[in-house]
Amino acid sequence: MTVGRFITFEGIEGVGKSTQLARLQAALTAAGREVVVTREPGGTPLAERIRALVLHDRSEPMPDAAELMLMFAARTVHTENLIRPALARGAWVLCDRYTDATYAYQGGGRGVADQAIAPLARLAQRGLAPDLTLLLDVPVAAALSRARARTAEADRIEAETQAFFERVRTRYLERAALEPARVRVIDASGDIAAVEARVQAALATLAADGRG
Ligand SMILES: Nc1ncnc2c1ncn2[C@@H]1O[C@H](COP(=O)(O)OP(=O)(O)O)[C@@H](O)[C@H]1O
Ligand SMILES: [Mg+2]
Repeated sequence: MTVGRFITFEGIEGVGKSTQLARLQAALTAAGREVVVTREPGGTPLAERIRALVLHDRSEPMPDAAELMLMFAARTVHTENLIRPALARGAWVLCDRYTDATYAYQGGGRGVADQAIAPLARLAQRGLAPDLTLLLDVPVAAALSRARARTAEADRIEAETQAFFERVRTRYLERAALEPARVRVIDASGDIAAVEARVQAALATLAADGRG
């Protein structure tokens, strides 16, 4: 039985997911919620080991299907061992990326068919879905220039081309159009405070849904 809220942040590298997730965590914590902040791939010790394999192991080529299944292996562990228990005790779970990212990156970016992704998503999620997904959106060039300003070294996927990220962004926007009630597209241009205000506005509908 799910009693908390499951909120996911999506968007390409550099749009401001980590920044806005931290802002929302602070606001919800100040409002007295138990907040669990987590990320994909990863979020538990075992899932983080899978993350290291899928994002940082460059020892040999990674077939697209292997990348896809590692993402879902990590997601299954994370969903069962962290997300579901947190929601059951009433926590608000803020997750940096979830299954929409697989449709965007492995689907849009790599070209894996939706028909390959959908059954794995059902297996991993067993009926769980985000209550709200915040898709932070800015043009690719702007997002990548923000991402480049960070010091961290690019992982296997972050090292992809601008054309790859254009396909990822397009697929994200298509996903949002398919499920407009769940996925809110947030204009992530402008300064951090302006984007935070747009996130808060999207959250207001969720907080008012009567589930406490
Ligand atoms: N609205 C914004 N305007 C300008 N820079 C931003 C904005 N939001 C985030 N940044 C900066 O851009 C970089 C990428 O943001 P980050 O939150 O790490 O993005 P993501 O987690 O989506 O990759 C960081 O250096 C961050 O401080
Ligand atoms: Mg981030």
